[in-house]
Formats: sequence, structure tokens, C-alpha cells
Amino acid sequence: MSSILLLSGSPSTPSRSEAILHHAAGILSDLGLTTQFVSVRDLPPEDLALAKFDSPQLKAIQQKVAQATGIVISAPVYKASYPGVLKALLDLLDQDAFTGKVILPIATGGTLAHLLSIDFAMKPVLAVMGATHILRGVYILSSQIQLDAAGTLQLEADIEERLRAGLQALAQAVK
Ligand SMILES: Cc1cc2nc3c(=O)[nH]c(=O)nc-3n(C[C@H](O)[C@H](O)[C@H](O)COP(=O)(O)O)c2cc1C
Repeated sequence: MSSILLLSGSPSTPSRSEAILHHAAGILSDLGLTTQFVSVRDLPPEDLALAKFDSPQLKAIQQKVAQATGIVISAPVYKASYPGVLKALLDLLDQDAFTGKVILPIATGGTLAHLLSIDFAMKPVLAVMGATHILRGVYILSSQIQLDAAGTLQLEADIEERLRAGLQALAQAVK
């Protein structure tokens, strides 16, 4: 059975971009897919900052990446790009870690002005890591994501629809 890796690139907690991934897990399950979750926070900050290629936590992440047929990467927009900690994690993965995998990129941002950050910042890095099947990204304004204290997510109807369309395209591609 295809397994989808949900990769969170936010250093913050609580995190809207990460809450989207937990919501996506339910949708993917309804579509008959199993998921595994990885966050940039799973690695000790020192391992990330000092590029510790022998980090035990990194080995676990590398295994999950290798097992996945599809990957959903969700990250906040930082300075018109994605957070440096996500780049630090990607730098620790193999050069061809994404070869043969279908990838759905998701970004949450404070402004629509950085809508193209998925295409200009995230996609080139995914491509250099071997991804040849990168689906159309889903960009969501953080103001369109309501997250309560219990971590329950409320999405506006059109966002929910775009997210589901992206996840359905992913499910279709990995089957
Ligand atoms: C350091 C920092 C830089 C940011 N830079 C941008 C930016 O350039 N463009 C933008 O649209 N939002 C920017 N934001 C807003 C975040 O993208 C937005 O709040 C996001 O939804 C937070 O997601 P998270 O809760 O998963 O961290 C920035 C936020 C932070 C903390």
C-alpha cells in the first residue's frame, strides 16, 4: 500500500501549516492511504544547525522518506521563501531523496504577495533532489486557517476544496 509522508517545515508550535498536515492525514486516510509524519522539530536543533549527518533522528527521517511513495510538504512562508530550518533538514537528506516520489507542496503565508514562493523557492530545491512529479502547490493565507486552543482546525470552504483537490491528485498519482 502507498504511504504518504507528511513533512512539516515549521519551527513554531502551535503551527498553522502543520495543522494543515494533520487535517490532510484524515483526508488521505479516507482516500485509502496511510501516512507518516515528520517535523523539522524531530531533529535536535544542534543536529540541524551543525549538519550532523550521523544524527540518529536523521536516520529515522531518512527511512521514512525512503518508504514514502508520496510526500506532502507544508511550511510557512518566511521572508518570501520557506524557513531556514526546513532547508537545513533538506540539506541533510540524500541528493536524490525525492527521486520517483510524487510531491504536493503547501505553503501558509501572511500575505498573498508571496503566493509564488512555492514555485520560486520550494520547487527548485525539490527538483534538484530528484522530484520530477511535483503537483500544483496549495497556498493558504494564515487568516483563512482557524486553529483553536485544542488544535482543532477550521478551514474556509474554498480552501478545504483546494486542499482536497491537491490531496486527491496526490492519491491518484501514487496509485
Ligand atoms: C520570521 C517570519 C517571517 C515571515 N515572512 C513572511 C513573508 O515573507 N511572507 C508572508 O506571506 N508571510 C510571512 N510570515 C507569516 C507566516 O508565513 C504565517 O504566519 C504562517 O502562516 C505561519 O505558519 P506556522 O503557524 O505554521 O508557523 C512570516 C512569519 C515569520 C515568523
